[in-house]
Amino acid sequence: MNRISRRTLLSSGVGAAAALSVPGFARSVARAAMQPAEKSVDRPVEKQNVKIEHRTFGKTGLSVAVLGFGGSEIGYERTDDATVAKLLNAALDAGLNVVDTAECYIASEEQIAKAIGHRRKDFHLFTKVGHWIPEGKDESWGWTKEGVLASIDRSLQRLKTDHVELVQIHSCRVEQLKQGGCVEGLQEAQKQGKTRFIGYSGDRDAAVYAVNMDVFDALQTSVNIADQQGIDLFLPQAKAKNLGVVAKRPIANAAWRYNDTPGNDYHVEYWKRFQKLKFPFASGDARNVQGPDGPVGIALRFTLQQPGVHVAIVGTSKPERWSENAALTQAGPLKPEQLKAIRDRWKEVAPQEWVGMT
Ligand SMILES: NC(=O)c1ccc[n+]([C@@H]2O[C@H](COP(=O)([O-])OP(=O)(O)OC[C@H]3O[C@@H](n4cnc5c(N)ncnc54)[C@H](OP(=O)(O)O)[C@@H]3O)[C@@H](O)[C@H]2O)c1
Repeated sequence: MNRISRRTLLSSGVGAAAALSVPGFARSVARAAMQPAEKSVDRPVEKQNVKIEHRTFGKTGLSVAVLGFGGSEIGYERTDDATVAKLLNAALDAGLNVVDTAECYIASEEQIAKAIGHRRKDFHLFTKVGHWIPEGKDESWGWTKEGVLASIDRSLQRLKTDHVELVQIHSCRVEQLKQGGCVEGLQEAQKQGKTRFIGYSGDRDAAVYAVNMDVFDALQTSVNIADQQGIDLFLPQAKAKNLGVVAKRPIANAAWRYNDTPGNDYHVEYWKRFQKLKFPFASGDARNVQGPDGPVGIALRFTLQQPGVHVAIVGTSKPERWSENAALTQAGPLKPEQLKAIRDRWKEVAPQEWVGMT
């Protein structure tokens, strides 16, 4: 399958450069933006019987369900439109109200518009900027004020809406944050009413820097049982500054499920970490346990109880997962001894190189 892996696109803090070095990447997204609009898929609304906890998304005041929709999977897996419609409508029916996407998740933005554009009032829409480079521009253009504003206009067109709730800078480095153009672009878009709030999406030193800039309303970052760097490094600070916090990769790609090295290279790093972490609940036959004390339940509940986390955006291409995952959140936080065991094991095993995955 002709598929650009996410790991290639967003590796090691050089996300934009990597994305843009993929031949034809900029051209293919530019072509995608020009596709004619298709009619929204109309689907009956079947409200399900799961009540998801809501949290106030930091200083934005938005009320967010703790389980959100991660939009990269549908783009990179090139999920067909009928399945996306089923998936997204099932997510809203299960009570999710955050839909997160990005300028570079292939056709994700357009697919979201087709599938649930007619239910726009039912969800908060989050997208990202920085990795879209049109023909004739170089990679640094994506982080300029001009580049950010152009990318937001393109996203609004693809999403078929006049505004989104949040635009996030998509994992740039500290130097790019220091240059300032990308932040100015977001602030200008906010003034123009194209986004209600602005945020940074990323990890490591750049997330620390972003939190301390005091310009953002929100932070999206990797937090999970196999990626705990941010828990001490910047989450307490993000909480103190009342940022809305989105946990990305919240169930560590469920990488414990593979017996051998995963074929999907995006899942390899966490799979390797699980081989060393050897959490009892994510090893051997325990991996098949369903429910809140199975690996997905424990992973999701762990993420949702970290400092300041408001919403965990899980990626999936399977519609039935939403009500399943929503039900898992209802068990609430892990017991203190379960939480301590996971944190202690990380501190005991994790080498310095186990940094936040972008
Ligand atoms: N730099 C950035 O801004 C950035 C980077 C990475 C991710 N993100 C965002 O974060 C979102 C989520 O990240 P992610 O998809 O990488 O990680 P994730 O949510 O931790 O893991 C997704 C994987 O978990 C599986 N899964 C979901 N529910 C499951 C269940 N109940 N049982 C077993 N497996 C289950 C899915 O497989 P199935 O298809 O089989 O369900 C999928 O392969 C993305 O969609 C994107 O929006 C942002």
